[in-house]
Amino acid sequence: MSKRVLTTESGAPVADNQNSATAGVGGPLLLQDQHLLEKLARFNRERIPERVVHARGSGAYGYFEVTDDVTAFTKAGFLSEVGKRTDLFLRFSTVADSLGGSDAVRDPRGFAVKFYTEEGNYDLVGNNTPVFFIKDPVKFPDFIHSQKRDPFTGRQEPDNVFDFWAHSPEATHQITWLFGDRGIPASYRHMDGFGSHTYQWTNEAGEAFFVKYHFKTNQGIRCLSAEQAAETVGADATSHQTDLLQAIERGVNPSWTLYVQIMPAAEAADYRFNPFDLTKVWPHADYPVQRVGRLVLDRNPDNIFAEVEQAAFSPNNFVPGIGPSPDKMLQGRLFAYADAHRYRLGVNHTQLPVNAPKHAVVDNYGRDGLMATRYGSRHDKNYEPNSYAGPAQTDVPLSAPLPVNGHTGTHEAPLHVKDDHFFQAGELYRLMSEDEKKRLVANLAGGLSQVSREDVIDKMVSHFAAADPDYGKRVAEAVRALRED
Ligand code: HEM
Repeated sequence: MSKRVLTTESGAPVADNQNSATAGVGGPLLLQDQHLLEKLARFNRERIPERVVHARGSGAYGYFEVTDDVTAFTKAGFLSEVGKRTDLFLRFSTVADSLGGSDAVRDPRGFAVKFYTEEGNYDLVGNNTPVFFIKDPVKFPDFIHSQKRDPFTGRQEPDNVFDFWAHSPEATHQITWLFGDRGIPASYRHMDGFGSHTYQWTNEAGEAFFVKYHFKTNQGIRCLSAEQAAETVGADATSHQTDLLQAIERGVNPSWTLYVQIMPAAEAADYRFNPFDLTKVWPHADYPVQRVGRLVLDRNPDNIFAEVEQAAFSPNNFVPGIGPSPDKMLQGRLFAYADAHRYRLGVNHTQLPVNAPKHAVVDNYGRDGLMATRYGSRHDKNYEPNSYAGPAQTDVPLSAPLPVNGHTGTHEAPLHVKDDHFFQAGELYRLMSEDEKKRLVANLAGGLSQVSREDVIDKMVSHFAAADPDYGKRVAEAVRALRED
């Protein structure tokens, strides 16, 4: 094998990588030392802006295989045949902390899948929780500010975390979930994934259905108690990354079974609560889960920066047969992600290998911009319409149109007969065993007791009491006991 030669970025051989060039022995450095200048300058530019949320994460490649026929509900090509396989990339993440944060923390986990389908990339950007804290995207920046490090103290502040929630009664369901047993997954392999929002499927006949996605882990659910998590973070802050990397390197490929709940579009208007409300689940008794297929992760990325840090998922990347619902949160996300990618990675982020379609051809009139590597042939026109047989529209929308009515305005999402902020939080609480309830209350009291303002604590307690009087009473008592300690 020929010896590999160290080169500069322009490919010239490097004579010395141990000593920089000086004016004489012991003299100052020379500006002509191209290797030194380039090496230092490049090093200064290694970091790009981290994601404003979900900064810390881990990713892997794999495939999705259809196991059950769902063609009655969607015309999506990658779901068109039992046995069909589609390549994918999945990135897991924590939400609130920065890139250097720890893995084993109480926080939702991201579950973002990019399916490289023959009809374009389909991104399903979900979490390990079926619901979320808020239901209007205008609240998202405030919510995230309250959960991330405080601009003065530089720490996550219980005062901020709970103050925001005290003003957001709709968060009670997700808070009950997060402070319960599933709030700290033992690893990324041992948790479920959810699309969380309601999406729309459209079949060949143009009929519309609303769907919710559930990826159930085949490894079984495993979680950490608050004490186990503290120990884990101390021993290995990158515990989830380590676990995923090593499992796949050992050939222990994690997998998830995808189920969907399907609601015929006509049933949405009269459902007893708003089916597009992200703070609520659809009871399985109303819409049972139906199996769709199996997601397997079987290959680690070769380079974390190139493939995980530069991975860009957008809930607006749909394929024929799949589209958005009118969920206001989802609608807000349809804008936010690609905008974040343009800021973080640039306008041509879709040309990076991890983001570029693998099984679909990109053919359009988008051109240029920073770092453009994709362009047409020399005969291609860069405008449309044209007389030169350039790519043309299909006139076939990806999904069915959504009905609308009324006037423009800053409206709350419509309330259905059973809608309130608390009933599903109460149902979740009552489903828990006595031991689970005790741990939930202890976890909540651990955080709430650090809040400096009594009125914030009182408001939080009133939300838990509205979900279930016993829940509110126990949290109040546990907080009082800790504060008197
Ligand atoms: C209106 C509400 C939301 C807004 C404005 C928002 C915005 C963002 C932004 C700007 C990013 C960073 C993207 C990047 O730099 O690559 C992000 C990441 C992410 N968000 Fe959201 N988000 C919202 C709600 C949600 C919800 C409800 C979920 C889950 C159901 C979610 C799941 C994720 C995930 C998994 C990532 C990380 C994707 C990756 O691995 O690269 N977000 N979000």
